[in-house]
Amino acid sequence: MEEKAKLIMEGREYELPVITGTEGEKAIDITQLRSRTGYISYDPGFANTGSCKSAITYIDGEKGVLRYRGIPIEQFDTKIPNFVEVAWLIIFGRLPKKEELQHFSEKLTRHAHIHEALKYHFEGFPITAPPMAILSAMINALSCFYPELFELETHEQFEEAAARLISKIRTIAAYSYRSSKGLPFIPPHPKLRYCANFLHMMFSMPYDLYEIDPVVEDALNLVFILHADHEQNCSASTVRMVGSSRANLFASCAAGVCALWGPLHGGANTAVIEMLEQIHKGNYTPEDCVRMAKEKGNPFRLMGFGHRVYKYFDPRSRILKKACDKLLATLKIKDPLLDIALKLEELALKDSYFTEKGLYPNVDFYSGIMMRAMRIPLNMFTVMFSMGRLPGWIAQWKEMNDDPRSKIWRPRQVYAGEKERDYIPMEKRQY
Ligand code: CMC
Repeated sequence: MEEKAKLIMEGREYELPVITGTEGEKAIDITQLRSRTGYISYDPGFANTGSCKSAITYIDGEKGVLRYRGIPIEQFDTKIPNFVEVAWLIIFGRLPKKEELQHFSEKLTRHAHIHEALKYHFEGFPITAPPMAILSAMINALSCFYPELFELETHEQFEEAAARLISKIRTIAAYSYRSSKGLPFIPPHPKLRYCANFLHMMFSMPYDLYEIDPVVEDALNLVFILHADHEQNCSASTVRMVGSSRANLFASCAAGVCALWGPLHGGANTAVIEMLEQIHKGNYTPEDCVRMAKEKGNPFRLMGFGHRVYKYFDPRSRILKKACDKLLATLKIKDPLLDIALKLEELALKDSYFTEKGLYPNVDFYSGIMMRAMRIPLNMFTVMFSMGRLPGWIAQWKEMNDDPRSKIWRPRQVYAGEKERDYIPMEKRQY
């Protein structure tokens, strides 16, 4: 029998349909709540609201499970496929056939350059411009160069737009770093794979090619894969929100970059390192940080800890912790920030404040230490997160646009302002 939820209000009983997801998750369908009862739901921060049905990523936050299109994230650790293959999986819903992956990879190679006119945009930013601001502006600017990709009606058009974005974000990211340092742009190399090509554009010099270390390339590949999608997080929801007005894919993803920038979301990877550096400089001890994080009224938070969905370990953090150890050991790097991070984790996991609230290390806790080992500058960390997350944004945008029932996203509110009142001329205002 079809399950229903019962709602009793003002002496009347309403039956609301219950939706069950493929993993047994239940949701009360309130799409007709207002038209039938006159009431709306109230859920600031959307902590209890399913904004869509999605087949891309599955998370069980209580058990620490994360799957892309049904495949557990741990399988990408042991078999380490190419980030491009995972991007294709996330966007198109199944693992690609050999020729499909080859076709997509060729597109990435062909679209790796950016329009010559776009290069002049970098000169317009001050040298101190945050790379996330540049990235968002540049991705939005891409829409000016490909107006033919505003309407993505066919599979070919969509694949073309997705490939351009995934390829060009890498070039834009590297060039934003180069321009901030006054270094010449290094063109993409047609023979290098996705991550290696990025490292080449970041670190090669015209007179000295950067030697790609396969260990660093694999580590970056893993970081990108682990960031590739995370269901309806703040930036993915932003991409859907903007795209729901039928804004083009470039504009929607540019908005996603802005949402990711904040320290409660992707910006946390930078904030974690800043916090660890403060401890390293002796401004705080790990014990101070744990104490401040617990203090009522103190806005300080243990960065890289806690998650809206995970109430146990974030599975990505476990994989990254292992990968981080391996990377530092192979590169023979001794990073004191890793020891501080381990100490902080140990203290927090012994503390009932954190365990009772379900605050465990998240993806951002160890990713920064890995990026430092790869010589990625601190102000580029969230840019790296954006590069990894782009396939997820594209997939979320596509899923919404492919659904004929999707509507413009337009929440309601409970108005809590002044009742109707009259305009008072300036000279009569008595405050
Ligand atoms: N340190 C100390 N206390 C915390 C922390 C933390 N990192 N995170 C949550 N809390 C407390 C919070 O003060 C609140 O306590 P109380 O119930 O006494 O008021 C309780 O835990 C619930 O927190 P919340 O802010 O209501 O939870 P949320 O689901 O709205 O926020 C979060 C989730 C990730 C924004 C939050 O845990 C946080 O600010 N963490 C630090 C920033 C961070 O690492 N962000 C990266 C998230 S993972 C990657 C990504 O999404 O990009």
